Amino acid sequence: MINTMKPISSKEIRETFQKFFEKNDHLRIKSASIVPKNDPTLLFINSGMAPLKQYFTGEAIPPQKNLCNSQPCIRTIDIDDVGDRHHLTFFEMLGSWSINGYFKETAIKLAYDLLVNHFKFDPKRLVASVYKGNPDLKLEPDHESAKIWQSLGFDDDHIVYQDHADNFWGPAGETGPCGPCTEVFFDTGDEFGPKYKSGEHFDDTCRYIEIWNAGVFMEFNKEKDGSFSNLKFKSVDTGSGLERMCMVLNNHQTVYETDLLKPLIDENQKQIPNISTEQNRILADHCRAFTLMLAEGVRPSNEGRGYIPRRLIRKCLVIIHQHRAEFNFDTIFTLIQ
Ligand code: GLY
Repeated sequence: MINTMKPISSKEIRETFQKFFEKNDHLRIKSASIVPKNDPTLLFINSGMAPLKQYFTGEAIPPQKNLCNSQPCIRTIDIDDVGDRHHLTFFEMLGSWSINGYFKETAIKLAYDLLVNHFKFDPKRLVASVYKGNPDLKLEPDHESAKIWQSLGFDDDHIVYQDHADNFWGPAGETGPCGPCTEVFFDTGDEFGPKYKSGEHFDDTCRYIEIWNAGVFMEFNKEKDGSFSNLKFKSVDTGSGLERMCMVLNNHQTVYETDLLKPLIDENQKQIPNISTEQNRILADHCRAFTLMLAEGVRPSNEGRGYIPRRLIRKCLVIIHQHRAEFNFDTIFTLIQ
């Protein structure tokens, strides 16, 4: 992989993101607990916008129109993908929002500015996805976002129209605010698959790694019956996984080489020398996730929220017992940031 970018720590990435948005009139707000408050649709906070849902529906007034933060998230739908290059159960999401404020053009231009001028990405190694539309749902293709990316120099080989499953985000839970989105992918190079050419298959699982959902254009509310109603006003919701951003900015091939996960990988290897790469990744991710859950007061149980840490701990113990290893969790706990 060719990369001219200098090493950068996860801490520096987090700060660069927040400071960029603060300089662009966003208020940095505190993150929420991973345990949702008054939201029966979610077991855990799964995105930066989840604790802010009521701002998008107009049920609560935000302290300012434009916000940013860094939010710990749990994605239980990704549990079975953990072990590949970049899926995690627990991750930190860098987010920015404009609630009834700016919309597509400003959101995309801010994303480009941060990525290219501050994080110093080569724009030739970025691909933007936009929403293809869905006639059954009477939702139009998002040509407007495509045109904005074009105006920034993205040609047809760097803009991909994707369907509803890929480019319509939300709601976080069964009901709530949602909308079409535009995502930014980093091209990790020829060794990870064929280069995308306009109209051909876009490999968003290996070669191209999603680094930022640079704009969910919140226009709809998904109702209990599955229909979409219009929200009272439009908003922008963005989310970027810190671990993935740290991976690509440091020219790493996996999130497990980043400063957030490498100490855990090294310690697992030390304690269980014969552990496979995939088992090591699962152990590192799952230890990190269940530690946070326990720290937030969630206790393993057979049902509901508690079933998640139970499942994660059980998977860790299966790996440890398979190797008949003595495993010192205390050392692991001290390495979790
Ligand atoms: N809320 C946007 C995302 O999680 O991708």
